This record gives sequence, structure tokens and C-alpha cells, in this order.
Amino acid sequence: MTFPRPNPAPVAGAGTTSGTFRRRGEAWYGSNDVASFIHRAFTKAMGYDDDDLDRPIIGICNTYSELNHCNHRLKDVAEAVKRGVLQAGGLPLEFPTISIGEVFVSPSSMLFRNLAAMDTEEMIRAQPLDGVVLLAACDKTTPAQLMGAGSADVPALMVTSGPMLNGRYEGQDLGACTDCRRYWTEYRAGAVTADTMRELENNLARSEGHCMVMGTASTMAACAEALGMMLPGGAAIPAPDSRRLRFSEASGRQIVKLAREGIRPSQVMTREAFENAIRVLHAVGGSTNAVVHLVAIAGRLGVELPLDLFDELSRTTPWLANLRPSGKFQMEALFEVGGVPLVMKELEPLLHGDCLTVTGQTVRQNLAAAPTVEGRGTFAERIREVVASRAQPLDAEGGLAILRGNLCPDGAVIKHVAASPNLLKHRGKALVFGSLAELASKIDDPDLDVTADTVLVLQNQGPVGAPGMPEVGNLPIPRKLLQQGIRDMVRISDARMSGTSFGTIVLHVAPESAIGGPLAAVRTGDEIELDVPNRRLQLLISDDELARRLAEHTLPAPAYRRGYGRLFLDHVLQAPQGCDFDFLLGDPEDARRAAAMSKDLRT
Ligand code: FES
Repeated sequence: MTFPRPNPAPVAGAGTTSGTFRRRGEAWYGSNDVASFIHRAFTKAMGYDDDDLDRPIIGICNTYSELNHCNHRLKDVAEAVKRGVLQAGGLPLEFPTISIGEVFVSPSSMLFRNLAAMDTEEMIRAQPLDGVVLLAACDKTTPAQLMGAGSADVPALMVTSGPMLNGRYEGQDLGACTDCRRYWTEYRAGAVTADTMRELENNLARSEGHCMVMGTASTMAACAEALGMMLPGGAAIPAPDSRRLRFSEASGRQIVKLAREGIRPSQVMTREAFENAIRVLHAVGGSTNAVVHLVAIAGRLGVELPLDLFDELSRTTPWLANLRPSGKFQMEALFEVGGVPLVMKELEPLLHGDCLTVTGQTVRQNLAAAPTVEGRGTFAERIREVVASRAQPLDAEGGLAILRGNLCPDGAVIKHVAASPNLLKHRGKALVFGSLAELASKIDDPDLDVTADTVLVLQNQGPVGAPGMPEVGNLPIPRKLLQQGIRDMVRISDARMSGTSFGTIVLHVAPESAIGGPLAAVRTGDEIELDVPNRRLQLLISDDELARRLAEHTLPAPAYRRGYGRLFLDHVLQAPQGCDFDFLLGDPEDARRAAAMSKDLRT
């Protein structure tokens, strides 16, 4: 028996660099068998016809959710992307994946990043898609989608929701969530009233969009652009700005082109592209979380990013973007002066210009059209306020540093541009908290034995210990010190912190304390030495004593015995490996093959 069928002729060149590969959708729609018959019939049930089924099928992978304000704008963004896909001759089909709202998801958003990445990967692979537009915004959704798309390796590009408009209060800009923390600290110190806090609550978040400082969401959007997975200029456009919709429409047109040309994530996200992203991360003073996420995305593609690479590139990348929480301005200002392309143009001599991007062109070709300061008249001064030149940077080095020492043999991270300069070399006695509950019960005790020189230590907040490595590394300053005017102290943990936070905060200590890392051996009263210029973090006890204490360490009872939590505990890797699951890492051989194909495309 033969069934009526659409024209199965493949789209020329789809899905490969050689131009001979049939589009993926043909496997669902293009055969004369009962499966294709059913696929066509059931797609037609939604009102599509044979003409639609002949087009490249573009999935709109949407993390829109009414439980995630950061991603709320993606409903409109998806419609604009669809217009672009249709304009270019594709068929847009939207589908949902897990959405993780940073401040709403409990117990920790990071617990679910890998779940979201698995959802993205499997839904791309499982469905008849020739290309995918990844719609992300809040902190974990961007890396999760890039991880999943990297593994699925179907032509893809990313569009984010964009940052919120600046909050406004009594003539000053407010930034989420840098000012949430700053004002809450002042409130705890008794310097701000409850009425003022209510006013701030009403004025902080003026629009949809992700946090508008250079927190994790802005950082990951900038990294996606620097990686070549987003069209140039997309990261900084404010969420409610009409230009975000026009950008989305252009992205819809472009994904059809990518699907036809078969340009895949593995050909874009190469080792060199990750080095470009790390340079941009340092130049914008980006979030510490990006270290974990970039390692995880790269791992999906078989690309290893050792922590020392982040430090090496930090030492040779100037800090340029004067953005909070490290600097003065917010994402609206960065967009106004030229966005990430302006930063990349400044960095161009340090970047790998040959990297292929989702424009179908190289970084160098893209940057030929990037904004510069030259010829901008009086506006040049404003540009230089927000993005410094490479010749006169805000700092000669990038924003993040990797520490080593007997307290963190596998590394730790500090955002030193957001730290107090006088604490970057510091020696003090440890005050140890073994859990969040202990911290909460003691931190505001008027009898707490603590001074401004004390080093606050929080244990058991790593990937396994918390579990899920929550953003609790920015331990609150004890109230008695707040009342003395102290606003920063050295704080050390195996947790992460929000990219919007600031202070002298050592994070991602590895191995983590719960599995017997040296952080577990710290006792209240021990001396700790932090030396950021020399990248050292030392617990000042003898090796014998350290070994003796660690020998006494016992593993905590697992927090989960079933379900996803159990899967997480059984397979999560440590922070220097990106906290991905061990069974999701990519094959370095595949990465080498993809990199070679990417080079062929450029020649
Ligand atoms: Fe989503 Fe800040 S809460 S980016």
C-alpha cells in the first residue's frame, strides 16, 4: 500500500558542510512508510500543509514560564523569532523545556541545571528539527540550553530575554540584585528603615528581563555572544526594548540559513571559541558562576577547560567594562555604547578571529562591523566611561582569579575586582560554620567571637554537600560588625555566590568539604592566609595535622535516596569539572573532528 506523502526532496545542503546530507526532518516526514504517514497526518492536525512540511523545521526551545520573571519576555521573543523563521522559508514549531527561576526554585537552582540541560538535549534530539532557536535568560537556563544544544549538535543559535530596565529610586539607578543585597545589609545594620525597603521593593524591578547588572545572566548572555552562539549585539539589548524583538526576528531568519548550511554547535563552540568567551568574561568583570558553566558547556563538546586556563587568560586580559557589581554602570549603559561587540572590538588582538559563529562568518568578519569609539564625537567620552580602552583599562588584569593551596588543592575562585583591595592579602583566624542552619543561628549573636580580621568559613555547601552548590558563599557580615561600620570580610566556602554579589569572597573550594576536601578540616581558631596576587589560599596547620583531621572525616548521609536528587548525588562532578554529570561529558575525538570541519567551512 502506498500513502499520500509530501515531496521528500531534501533541502539543498541541509545538515552538513558537504551539501549532500538530507535535513533531519526528512527522517520523520520524508519516507513512504506508515511512520511518515502518521507524522504528516498528525502535524496536519495542527493546520499545517505539505508546503509547511517541505520547509526546514525550526524548533523554538522556549524556557518561558510564569514562575520565572527573567524569562517572561520570551513569550514575545518567540513570536518575533517565528516571524523571522517564516520570512526565511522555515517552519517554526515552539516547544517548552524546563525553566529555572533563580530566586524561586528550591532548594537550589544549580541542582536543576543538569536536568534542564538533559531536557533540552533530549527534546532537540528526539524531535524532527533541522535547527533550533534557544530562548533563555535567567542564570541557569542559558548554560543549560548551551550544554544541551552542544550535546544534541543540531544547528542552533541563542536569543536571551535581555536585561531589565534600570530600577529607579530617588534619582539613583537600582540594580538587581546588587542593590537587594546592599540595602538589605544596611537594613540589618539599622541604617535603612522598613518603609524605605518597601519603597525599594516597588522600584527595583521596572520591567521583565533578567538582572540588569553584570550578574550571572548578563555574563552568560555575553559569553554566548562571545562563543559565537548568538548574533552580535544581542546580549545587552534591554528586555522591553523594541530592538530586542527586531533582533529576535533577525535570529529567526538566521537559524533557517544555519539549518540549510548545516552549521552545528560543535563547529562553533571550539576550544578557541571558549578562550574568546573567557577573555570576554574577564573583560566585563563577569560572574564567578561562568567558570563552572563554561567548563560544563565545553565538557559536552569534549573540550577541556582547566581552571588554570581561566587564570592564565585573566592575567593577560584587561578589565574594560565598568559594570556593577564590580563597577559603576548597568546593562542599559553597555547597550547604549555598543554592547558586547564594542568590548570584543577592544579585545580583538587577544581573540581568536578565525572562530566560526552563527552569522556564518568568523569573529574577525563580524568585528569588522562592530562599533568603535572613532568618529563618535562627544559621545566617545560616554563610551569610554562605560567601556575602557585596552590601552587604559580599569585594571590590567581580568576580573577573576584562581587560587591554589592546601585548602583548595583542586582550585578556588575569587572575583577580585569586586573585593576590598585591603583584604586581597590577608591573614586571620577562622570562624567556622558547618551548615546554613548554624550560620543563621549564630551570625547575629551579640556574643559571637568575631572581629573584622576574622575569616568566615562555611562548610558543606558544595555540589554533593548542600547538595547543588547553592549561592550562599557571600556569608552575611555579623550584625555586631555591621554596627561598627564593617561591610566586608574574607569569606571562604565550597558554595557559589550570585553574580550580582560583591566582597572578598572565595568560592568553589575544591574538592568540597562534604566529600573530605581540606575545607572540612578547618576548625574555629585556625589561621588562614589569603594571597590573591600570588594566587594562594593556605590553612596554616601542619600537613600531618591536616591529614589527621581529614582521616576523621565521615561522609554525610545522602540528602536524597530516590529520583532526580539521587541521580544528581550519584553522578555530579566537582566545580572544576563544571558540576555536570559524569555520563554526559562529550568525546574529545568528536570535538577534534568538529573543529576540523569548522576550519573547512572557513576556507
Ligand atoms: Fe534571574 Fe537574576 S533572578 S537573572
